[in-house]
Amino acid sequence: MPPVEFYLDNSATSPVFPQVISIMNKVMQEEYGNPSSLHRRGSGADRVMETARRTIAELLCVSGEEIIFTSGGTESNNLAIMGIARRNRRRGDHLVTTLIEHSSVLEPFQQLEEEGFRVTYLLPDEKGFIEPAAAAEAVNKQTILVSVMHVNNEIGTVQPVSQIAKAVKARNPNVYFHVDGVQSFGKLPLQPAEAGIDALSISAHKFHGPRGMGALFLRRGIHVDPLLRGGGHEGGVRAGTENTPGIAGMALAARLSYEDQQQKMERLASLKEKLLATVTNAHPWAVVNGATGEYGAPHILNISFPGLKGELILHGLEEDNVYISTGSACHSHKNDPSHVLQALKLDERTMEGAIRISLSEQNTEEQIDFAAAALNKVITALS
Ligand SMILES: Cc1ncc(COP(=O)(O)O)c(C=O)c1O
Repeated sequence: MPPVEFYLDNSATSPVFPQVISIMNKVMQEEYGNPSSLHRRGSGADRVMETARRTIAELLCVSGEEIIFTSGGTESNNLAIMGIARRNRRRGDHLVTTLIEHSSVLEPFQQLEEEGFRVTYLLPDEKGFIEPAAAAEAVNKQTILVSVMHVNNEIGTVQPVSQIAKAVKARNPNVYFHVDGVQSFGKLPLQPAEAGIDALSISAHKFHGPRGMGALFLRRGIHVDPLLRGGGHEGGVRAGTENTPGIAGMALAARLSYEDQQQKMERLASLKEKLLATVTNAHPWAVVNGATGEYGAPHILNISFPGLKGELILHGLEEDNVYISTGSACHSHKNDPSHVLQALKLDERTMEGAIRISLSEQNTEEQIDFAAAALNKVITALS
């Protein structure tokens, strides 16, 4: 029997739903054709792909032609940001984003600066919150794109993206608004068209779908410079033979995540509260990083034990088969302090002692109780 595990690192990646594995197996075995092929095997694969496209589109309340399949959140962010900026250069040379974006947003902006664009980086408040008025103030006549994430992957702060969209467009109606929705899709309701969002990135492995699979919603009529050329797939915006098993798996994972979403998230929010209360009762000196309540995502908890090392806490928990993260998984191999925690202006000891616990709908109350007790034990031992 494998050991019982307590996987609380779902914002790094999430276990794939068994139904998703089954559908991917089936598509690999039965619909192995190239969706571009003109024979029956091709049209079967094409049908699988277009059904999946419709599923994602319906969940977002947009049209199928506005969904582009990509290799994940990183590619969706790169395509939206570099694609929109480069293609629309004659309209202006100014871009706006925040200091707490994922590196797959920040690095494309840095690349665009090297290409001659000017970028304004918005500073969040001490809870990681971006004021819509501050975003609007950064916008001028030369601004072509604003990009603000929905849920921060490290601290879980939920940005008021529809208010930000409204504020920036009131200032300059020609601005395009991109949202990195990788940590919120399937968890928090967001309808891009209604919210004034022109481009939205999602990634399947964050909602129990396969890794290396994502999508970009791109509002009809917005032109982008492709990153990948050759083949004319995805309306000429993203070349490459489509990953039909991954596409079918992502669509099913999305549908399953949307089922009873509100109840599932209410349950997670109360599990998160319980975990936090158990830990802060035992260790009242613990500090929560990021927003709580309405502006805190139900599945992400970032907590610091100033004076301790996040990495030692992580390895201490691992002894009990409890898996968590220090800061963001994408940076965990580096020793630099997290750019997100730095933007919150935390002191060195608080940053070093930070851990991220991220839940999913698969976590049970018993798992959370076990994890809270294990965390209390590790903190006591390390203090
Ligand atoms: C907020 C955010 N954006 C983008 C990404 C990148 O997504 P992917 O791993 O699918 O490339 C991540 C992954 O951690 C993320 O948390």
